[in-house]
Amino acid sequence: MAEKQEKKDVQSVKGMRDIMGDQYYALQGFFEKAQEICEYYGLQPIETPTLEQEEVFLKGIGEGTDISDKELYTLKTKGKDKLAMRPETTAGIMRAYIEHGMHTKPQPVMFYTYGPVYRHDKPQRGRYRQFWQFGVEILGSTKAVSDVLAIHLAHLILKEAGIKDITLKINSLGDADSRKEYVKTLTAYYRKHINSMGATDRQRLKTNPLRILDSKDEAVAEINAEAPQSISSLNTASKKHFKEVLEHLGELGINYEIDHKLVRGLDYYSHTVFEFFTTPEKNEEGEEMKPLALGGGGRYDYLAKIIGGKKDVPSVGFGLGVDRVIEATSKDITPKVKKAPKVYFIQLGQEAKLKSLAIIEELRLAKIPVAHSLSKDSLGQQLAIAEKLGVPQVLIFGQKEALEGSVIIRNMKNRSQKIVKIDKMVETIKKMK
Ligand code: HAM
Repeated sequence: MAEKQEKKDVQSVKGMRDIMGDQYYALQGFFEKAQEICEYYGLQPIETPTLEQEEVFLKGIGEGTDISDKELYTLKTKGKDKLAMRPETTAGIMRAYIEHGMHTKPQPVMFYTYGPVYRHDKPQRGRYRQFWQFGVEILGSTKAVSDVLAIHLAHLILKEAGIKDITLKINSLGDADSRKEYVKTLTAYYRKHINSMGATDRQRLKTNPLRILDSKDEAVAEINAEAPQSISSLNTASKKHFKEVLEHLGELGINYEIDHKLVRGLDYYSHTVFEFFTTPEKNEEGEEMKPLALGGGGRYDYLAKIIGGKKDVPSVGFGLGVDRVIEATSKDITPKVKKAPKVYFIQLGQEAKLKSLAIIEELRLAKIPVAHSLSKDSLGQQLAIAEKLGVPQVLIFGQKEALEGSVIIRNMKNRSQKIVKIDKMVETIKKMK
């Protein structure tokens, strides 16, 4: 009973989890791959603080969005600052761009970023309260080719991480005028159907009508089927931009589906918006579950001014949900730093134990990964661990060897063994197949 009580009291925060073992390596391996791709494409790394002034997100992500209304973790410091845990990284990177006057650098400034973000979302399949995003932001370019570079990079990273059957959904909200026009048209349309709408969507009609497009209410889903499409409200310049994006994608051979209901859950978007999916998982009954986006992004030409910048900074980027990508892939994405042990080091007796770390260090300097259990004393126990790990060679360093400056090298496959002097140890291990 006491033990049960202890288990209940000692646990992580709901929706947050410890990352260990294979999962840790998978996150690290994913980052290594994504980072390498971004480095090849000339992007630079950035890491913004986990905490920002609350305003950066409240203004940036926008009123009437789930994130600012209910998912932001906020806190007041003793100095009365109102801070928030970052629910995403775009607004923080834009804050950094403005703060460091990056408009004076050659444009666009291209960043990649990686780290945990926080949303007080309802924990469920693929939905955590602390999760990892890999993001790319291209700041200071109006060009369609920048939108395509972002989409291309996201697509490449997903492919390299082993995601098969990638579906790209894309839409355009156009520039500020087009978006305003669309919101007007959409509001007029929903007003006609207001009697079939629930309280949440009626409220959204006042604060953020675009959000009604992904309403979970079935009656509203029917209304949405006939709703006006954003591309019908695009002005000439916005149409041209979207057409160019689609042309570039065609050129790259990236398939896409235009999704007229895609407006995204954050309010800072203009022009291109996109999301990536893979084949939906099946539940125990064999039914397809609601697909979860593996990543999403778009253009955010007006975010800079919204968060207090003096000038617009036309930008585009994406964020990938790394936890979801890792759950969806079957590819082994172990990082380069993870090494399978080549030898298992066994020590016997006090004399040997004392000299053990020096030998292990010699092996490390020779780039030979070693497994060991220095806290164990018996040969049987240590051999059993070596056997379990499936290590090809075992080094046995006993009292006699410690005094003579030698070591026994045993081949675990054919059980043959030889005694060599310590100064020949590395050379002998490297020669053995
Ligand atoms: P987002 O669509 O809100 O976009 O998040 C990006 C990805 O994070 C999602 O596609 C999903 O894979 C993952 N994600 C979202 N919520 C959760 C959750 N609760 N648990 C696990 N994974 C989750 C952004 O955050 C934008 N900042 C992307 C962007 C960058 N747009 C322009 N630049």
